[in-house]
Amino acid sequence: MPHSVRHEPTPLEIVKDNDMEGKLLGKWAVITGSSSATGIEIVRALAATGLRLILPVPNQARAIVILGDAYNPNRMEFVTIDHTSLDSVREAAKHIISKTEKISLLVCNETATPSPSLQLTKDGFEMQFATNHLSHFLLFQLLKPELLAASRPRFQSRVIMVACAEHRKRGLNGRGNYNFEKEGYNSAIAYAQSKTANVYMANEIERRYGTRGLHAFSTNSGRFIAGELQQDGGESLHQNPQSETGGKSCARGTSTTIWGAIGREWEGKGGINLSHCTDAPSGDSEENMPSTTGTENTYNPAEEARLWEDSLDMIGLLDDQ
Ligand SMILES: NC(=O)c1ccc[n+]([C@@H]2O[C@H](COP(=O)([O-])OP(=O)(O)OC[C@H]3O[C@@H](n4cnc5c(N)ncnc54)[C@H](OP(=O)(O)O)[C@@H]3O)[C@@H](O)[C@H]2O)c1
Repeated sequence: MPHSVRHEPTPLEIVKDNDMEGKLLGKWAVITGSSSATGIEIVRALAATGLRLILPVPNQARAIVILGDAYNPNRMEFVTIDHTSLDSVREAAKHIISKTEKISLLVCNETATPSPSLQLTKDGFEMQFATNHLSHFLLFQLLKPELLAASRPRFQSRVIMVACAEHRKRGLNGRGNYNFEKEGYNSAIAYAQSKTANVYMANEIERRYGTRGLHAFSTNSGRFIAGELQQDGGESLHQNPQSETGGKSCARGTSTTIWGAIGREWEGKGGINLSHCTDAPSGDSEENMPSTTGTENTYNPAEEARLWEDSLDMIGLLDDQ
């Protein structure tokens, strides 16, 4: 690789191209948001590597139906989780840890359905920030010992934060305004903030734990549509490979995530935003930016550190460094 958007491979092709079929037997992965169209494709591809999968989902019976033929009871187990509740995340983490002491891969794919009006979780946080970011931040903190314990020179542990190009639209709200306390609520901005948080969290994980063999990437994949590569507003992805408005199938929409999760070229690396199966270098400005380029909302060490500190405070944990 790298691939252009035009030639972005499918997740299973990435597994094959990286010679990863069955190569991760004996290792464990945790994937959130698996009971979704994108989740199915992530599960299918990672199962092909031999990974044993723990799938935290809100409703296990529903997840089995949604996963369909991607579900293999011999290689996958469910844990109940509600990302709107930090207590539920703590409970889910306990169940996960009771199943394995080593986790090689954590994929954070879950996302809340946005509401047009401000909604707070029972813990008092804005819904998208809480579910897309805080719940994953807590899950990571609780699974960190298992992620560190699993790291091996041939496959160092990885965290994949499934973000979105929308993160470029907005950085974090200021301190004391994460929940829109100081401005009117805007659902799109709230989504962008939560996705920026995903990107920053990956960068900060790398900064803090990369040298201990625990790495992290964030991924953008563009808009997904069911079915194969689709027309969008009369323009297909093939005609405009850099277009963020061009849709792609759910399978191709998860290619970047799988590339980050098992791609051999990423061994021992991290802190990179992967976009359409390329790494996203820093761009000059948002206006000039092709869709695979990062902005200060992609790489911003001061803001990454602020988010980390504030998130620890919000979930009631102390810094371990
Ligand atoms: N869709 C796109 O076009 C697009 C574009 C760029 C990036 N992304 C990113 O890709 C990821 C997946 O997106 P998607 O469109 O596949 O999402 P989706 O279809 O909305 O699915 C969301 C998943 O999260 C789960 N979920 C929602 N609320 C939950 C809760 N409170 N507790 C536990 N699980 C919960 C859902 O479970 P149930 O359905 O079982 O409730 C489902 O598995 C997200 O991180 C999103 O930001 C998506």
